[in-house]
Amino acid sequence: MNIILLGPPGAGKGTQSQRLVERRGMRQLSTGDMLRAAVKAGTPTGLKAKAVMERGELVSDEIVSGIIGEELDSMGPESGAIFDGYPRTEAQAQALEKLLSDRGRTLDHVIELDVNEDALVERITGRFTCASCGKGYHDKFEQPRLPGTCDKCGGTEFKRRPDDNAETVRTRMAEYRAKTAPILPFYEAKGIVSRVDGMADMDSVTEAIEAIIG
Ligand code: AP5
Ligand code: MG
Repeated sequence: MNIILLGPPGAGKGTQSQRLVERRGMRQLSTGDMLRAAVKAGTPTGLKAKAVMERGELVSDEIVSGIIGEELDSMGPESGAIFDGYPRTEAQAQALEKLLSDRGRTLDHVIELDVNEDALVERITGRFTCASCGKGYHDKFEQPRLPGTCDKCGGTEFKRRPDDNAETVRTRMAEYRAKTAPILPFYEAKGIVSRVDGMADMDSVTEAIEAIIG
């Protein structure tokens, strides 16, 4: 099973991917997470990506498709992939076709998280993650059960993303509208697009996704 979760910044791609990883043992391939790891490690890719990400613009197609290819090569053929934040341009959608077919994989579902952009700024500016295991939280919508302690790993340090400010979010949304939303018709023509109400509570979104992927 290989699926794409598609939606603007803050739509819930990362949140729902983590749930699918836990429930189904699928692998989350988040280009955003991989790029942030590269920035942190100071790799050549990270050095190229840092300023672009801080502005909320898109990193080059070659870089992101390259890292997705490497990730796919590190996976066993039995593990399913959840593409989170990739593809984001027509060139990336084309590259993914080849990356998958070269590895004997097919794309089963493209799930669009349908959200109201006005609510997304609040979601994004309230977001934080566990510094040890990466579990996501939110100031208002999902606090750790024991304040200051990660539910999943017991970690006590949390972090916020440098691009999670109201101004950068606007650029990220504009990039989504201009470059990412236009790839939907390509997948619609293949008959594999489903829409989920991303404004519902997190559990209902998970249920809706589970119902689609069966
Ligand atoms: P990336 O990391 O992919 O960021 P993004 O697309 O902007 O998406 P987010 O991670 O902000 O949102 P999400 O949909 O994962 O939401 P989440 O589940 O966390 O990309 C960052 C940057 O990297 C890009 O700007 C670009 O520069 C670069 N990049 C990455 N991929 C690239 C590519 N392919 N090509 C080129 N450049 C690339 O949810 C948000 C918050 O809301 C959380 O706090 C969560 O708890 C809460 N929440 C989630 N669901 C709900 C709900 N149903 N109800 C209430 N709250 C909810
Ligand atoms: Mg994310």
